[in-house]
Amino acid sequence: MTRTLAIANQKGGVAKTTTTASVGAALAAEDVAVLVVDLDPQGSLTFSLGHDPDQLSASVHDVLIGAEEVADVLLDTEDGVTLLPATIDLAGAEALLLMRPGREYALKRALGEIAQDYDVILIDCPPSLGVLTLNGLTAADEVVVPLQCETLAHRGVGQLLRTVTEVQQITNPDLAILGAVATLFDARTTHSRDVLADVTDRYDLPVLSPPIPRTVRFAEASASGSSVMRGRKNKGSVAYRELAANLRAHWAGAPLETYEAPVS
Ligand SMILES: Nc1ncnc2c1ncn2[C@@H]1O[C@H](COP(=O)(O)OP(=O)(O)OP(=O)(O)O)[C@@H](O)[C@H]1O
Ligand SMILES: [Mg+2]
Repeated sequence: MTRTLAIANQKGGVAKTTTTASVGAALAAEDVAVLVVDLDPQGSLTFSLGHDPDQLSASVHDVLIGAEEVADVLLDTEDGVTLLPATIDLAGAEALLLMRPGREYALKRALGEIAQDYDVILIDCPPSLGVLTLNGLTAADEVVVPLQCETLAHRGVGQLLRTVTEVQQITNPDLAILGAVATLFDARTTHSRDVLADVTDRYDLPVLSPPIPRTVRFAEASASGSSVMRGRKNKGSVAYRELAANLRAHWAGAPLETYEAPVS
């Protein structure tokens, strides 16, 4: 059975793309067949997995509007995951899709054609709650919310959770929220922990274990077009491997391990 997980938060720069690439690479290293979907017109996931969006002749955009078969657009990556890439064309998909009936289902329909080839599909949503994110949430079985552990991290979480509720009511009744992924976490400060405790409380949203520490390796990796999972071991890649293992155990039937921020 294929598990489809959306990585969503309309707030920008919270590590949605980094989480998608890193968890994908960690799973692929364990011989899980992984497809990652870039749903962001910025094409950051595509770029971070070694493909230049500006050089691609077809992308998820063409699939969503019905101009290409999804199987013809897939790319291999050095990280071992298959990529459904994005290009800036996707910025226009929003307008094109809006005029179509059933527009929230375009990605779900496309993935249905290839899902049997993959154990896990990860969908990197863009930083907005528009029709692309609705496509991601409609195609997914589950969603995680990366949260940067900074002041005001919670802003927008309520709106995202309301969107998820609407998706559950209208296009995808089976969508489950697994919880938050704490990113750019600094365990040395009580601040990161307080932010997490606050979000958990306020929204009753569990934080998946482990939090992902802030490390400079991520910036280096995304600038070089290779995921942080390749190259030298570092505390970020170790944390993402643990998160991938946590998800995998959950898919095999174990309860998800959650992180309880110590009260300070
Ligand atoms: N654990 C980390 N430590 C340090 N830097 C990180 C970490 N995770 C992500 N980053 C950096 O933070 C920036 C934003 O990350 P990323 O692009 O994954 O976020 P995003 O939520 O996908 O952004 P957008 O909303 O624009 O799509 C990137 O420069 C990335 O390299
Ligand atoms: Mg992104």
